[in-house]
Amino acid sequence: MDEVSPDRSRSEGFRWERLELLRRRTSKKWRTHPSDVLPVWVAEMDCALAPPVAQALAQAVALGDTGYPAGAGYVEALAGFARARWGWEGVTAERAVRVPDVMRGAVEMLRLVTDPGDQVVVNCPVYPPFYHFVRSSGRAVVEAPLGADGRIDLAELKEAFRRATADGGRAAYLLCNPHNPTGTVHRRDELEAVASLAEAFGVRVVVDEIHAPLVSGGAEFVPYLSVRGAESGFSLMSASKAWNLAGLPAALALAGEAAAADLARVPSEVADGVSHFGVIAHTAALRHGAAWLDGLLVALAENRALFDGLVAEHLPSVRYRPGAGTYLAWLDFRDAGLGADPAAVLLDRGRVALTGGLPFGTGGAGHARFNLATSPELITEAVRRMATAL
Ligand SMILES: Cc1ncc(COP(=O)(O)O)c(C=O)c1O
Repeated sequence: MDEVSPDRSRSEGFRWERLELLRRRTSKKWRTHPSDVLPVWVAEMDCALAPPVAQALAQAVALGDTGYPAGAGYVEALAGFARARWGWEGVTAERAVRVPDVMRGAVEMLRLVTDPGDQVVVNCPVYPPFYHFVRSSGRAVVEAPLGADGRIDLAELKEAFRRATADGGRAAYLLCNPHNPTGTVHRRDELEAVASLAEAFGVRVVVDEIHAPLVSGGAEFVPYLSVRGAESGFSLMSASKAWNLAGLPAALALAGEAAAADLARVPSEVADGVSHFGVIAHTAALRHGAAWLDGLLVALAENRALFDGLVAEHLPSVRYRPGAGTYLAWLDFRDAGLGADPAAVLLDRGRVALTGGLPFGTGGAGHARFNLATSPELITEAVRRMATAL
């Protein structure tokens, strides 16, 4: 522990870790590629664990508190966080169910309101598991491309809703807010328009809000269930992304007032399959991790500005529009002459690993996703490698 955090005063706050320590991590980001590759791909953060989370876990280990999860602590912690951060009172234990993680929770919500063979609308380019999980649950994906400005295109969405409901089946819309990979934070007026369009077509809305705490840069996160007309919707929330807890998964499925009866049909084995350690970590993060999160958001805003400048200076053929949400940067390489999969070329020539754009669906070709949740030094080094490759 001392080796990891020699400076006691700093260890109480937020900090990025050094490369030597990161290389000792055994998670996907650090073990997929050989050690001469700098990984800036999968959505893991290169920070030290938030001290309140570390303390809660250490206490659980000391107590041997390794049984099954119990009680409403997680949902109460989220309710308090939502009230304090977004002024939203809508999280209640009566309309919340613990789920193992966000994607499995999203599939459970889709199962409540659609049948196998039904259609699920997504806004491409989008987080690739939106395709895999929908398809492996026997539903089909209908794409509604985002506009050129990276925002929801209501005409495209309407057309997708029309196609998804044309055969008379039940349809759902799996929305991502903030959007992975563009970092777009949907505005209240956009979400209200979504809710009204969904109502008109009888489409049920399931919103993945895993990146909700990761909004800065003057934008404001608006919980979908807080907007007018969203009563029949569902939301998936989690501390996973904002406090880097993918290895300690847990999430909450929330229902609007008119969806409470549907939520009550989630099979009990879903909530029973949630990790107790995940719940302990997420509860501590939401209850005691707000100051740490503020430190992270400042660091991410600085990183975004740094990266924007570095791209303009060293990668002039690459287009980047910083989003206000997530720690992800969606890069357009179509003028850089690297073909459909620029990440493959950057890995080969530059020894830097971004996430390739192709699995993000229509609009992903010629793009790659860069993970900004690392130190300014490593961002600078990654851009240097990208420039060398170009
Ligand atoms: C939009 C989005 N949803 C879900 C996940 C994964 O969440 P979980 O591990 O809780 O399924 C991620 C991970 O990066 C994500 O970006």
